[in-house]
Amino acid sequence: MKSLSRRVLDTRIRGGKLSLCCRTALIFAFNYTGDRFAFACCLMDDMKSSDLDRSTVETAYARWAPIYDAVCGPVMVKGRRAAAAAARAIGGKILEVGVGTGLSFDDYDFSTEITGIDLSAPMLAKAREKIASGRYPFVKDVQLMDAHRMAFADATFDCVVAQFVITLVANPEQVLSECHRVVKPGGRIILVNHLYSEKGVAAAVERWAAQRTRALGLRPEFPFARLQAWAQTSNDAILVERRKVAPFGIYTLVCFERVVPSAA
Ligand SMILES: C[S@@+](CC[C@H](N)C(=O)[O-])C[C@H]1O[C@@H](n2cnc3c(N)ncnc32)[C@H](O)[C@@H]1O
Repeated sequence: MKSLSRRVLDTRIRGGKLSLCCRTALIFAFNYTGDRFAFACCLMDDMKSSDLDRSTVETAYARWAPIYDAVCGPVMVKGRRAAAAAARAIGGKILEVGVGTGLSFDDYDFSTEITGIDLSAPMLAKAREKIASGRYPFVKDVQLMDAHRMAFADATFDCVVAQFVITLVANPEQVLSECHRVVKPGGRIILVNHLYSEKGVAAAVERWAAQRTRALGLRPEFPFARLQAWAQTSNDAILVERRKVAPFGIYTLVCFERVVPSAA
């Protein structure tokens, strides 16, 4: 792991070409899931997991912005499409939390109106370039905003989507509560991420990696149970779906619904 990270970290091409200097690593993990193997790719930041604060995320994604689409576009496309398909099934006003460079815009259509937020100005600049192309008239706006403290009024959106974000934020429970606040009763929160495998060889590898990659800010052990526990503490959030995303099951789609208060 150390030598792989070192090799990735040492990748520097100057003069406006690929620039992946840094303490940010693209970690590839071999993931055994019972009857199949999968090659997982996780974008991780060089920091302690408890230090995933605003300035650290901003620094990391300023580095990633120029190369993000090329590196992470194909690898994460299945998860992204699954989340957007679930959101399209709801339709209406959709908030993309951690919208990044706007790679998901391709997965939406006129049945939706997309608003995006992100902490990283350079990532958002890439999203704005896509909007300026005129190909995504259903994207209303993207804004620089911290998902821990959103500026939107309560019950603004029909659906809130967070693709490959929840395991990166400093306080996942607080972000979930904010997503819950801004989604309408009857609306849904849709997450897609690599989550801890919980059992078998993959879980053992992830536990091993968690111990040894703290300094790199990895959270390969981020468990579904933590998301579930958040829902259990909420009066009006219920888990409606949890499924692996085909074809390899590397990513998990998790969906919560904000229940409509009963009239009684
Ligand atoms: C791995 S990228 C995913 C981007 C995009 N969702 C995708 O699927 O390509 C994670 C994104 O989350 C953003 N992010 C991290 N913490 C955030 C926070 N607290 N509030 C808003 N965005 C955040 C990062 O800046 C980055 O653009």
